[in-house]
Amino acid sequence: MYFILNGKLVESKKAVIPITDHGFLYGDGIYETMRTKNGKLWLFNEHIKRLNNSAKEVGIKVPYKKADIFKQIILLMKKNKIAEARIRLTLSRGSNDFNFGSAKTPTFLVEAKKLTFPPKEFYKKGISVVTYNIERPMAQLKSTSMLPSILAYRYAKKKHAYEALLVDCNNRITECSMSNVFFVKKGKLITPKDDILKGTVRGFIIKKTKVKLTVIKKKDLSKMDEAFITGTVKGILPITKIDGKKVGNGKIGKVTSRLMETIFPVTITKKYEN
Ligand SMILES: Cc1ncc(COP(=O)(O)O)c(C=O)c1O
Repeated sequence: MYFILNGKLVESKKAVIPITDHGFLYGDGIYETMRTKNGKLWLFNEHIKRLNNSAKEVGIKVPYKKADIFKQIILLMKKNKIAEARIRLTLSRGSNDFNFGSAKTPTFLVEAKKLTFPPKEFYKKGISVVTYNIERPMAQLKSTSMLPSILAYRYAKKKHAYEALLVDCNNRITECSMSNVFFVKKGKLITPKDDILKGTVRGFIIKKTKVKLTVIKKKDLSKMDEAFITGTVKGILPITKIDGKKVGNGKIGKVTSRLMETIFPVTITKKYEN
């Protein structure tokens, strides 16, 4: 397996970063996860836009232009002999002493691994999620400081759920630990508006269909008829249980099914199935 570290193709064993790297010491970095669809980079422009926005926000300059990053990804996929890939770009402030100003030697890592999906039955039967009280600071940034998400995700696993549905200090539902969330209420599609990571798949759905961006409170959850989560790799995954209680009739609803079939045809094709 190869990686591209600071513009150079390196084998995994040789791909090392200094112990002084700010990403390791302080979680001082940002990242993007994207994927290919039928061998082509999917929503590449949106991912690069978000990468640049996150980088600007934390004051680390992305060391490569969009076209360079594209070339690096294609080269890496060829080198790793991967047709359908999950790609991660990670950028840290690098080794910068205790200086949080501009990065003298930022670290930029490109990874391309085989794309794998959640188990097929999750798409057929739905997943369960559990609510978890936590705030993701600067949620709009795709930051490598992922502890809030990790704690939420760990809680979900402890409760044998697929994901954690995050509830903020105002009892608002924001998103999940590593996904966005949508609900259907009386036939209308809704999703939390603020204090979330504006996911690329969320954005894609908003562009393609009518969605109301709104405030959703924890107490409203019992009134929802359908629910699903979205994310780059998982696509659309239906939620059929929240905190052990059925969503609607406990089956995948009409609106969710339609979106899974039309807007985001289930990512699983025979060829790339786990
Ligand atoms: C907190 C959070 N929200 C939402 C998402 C979904 O974003 P995207 O659709 O761009 O994968 C992610 C993806 O990692 C995430 O970490």
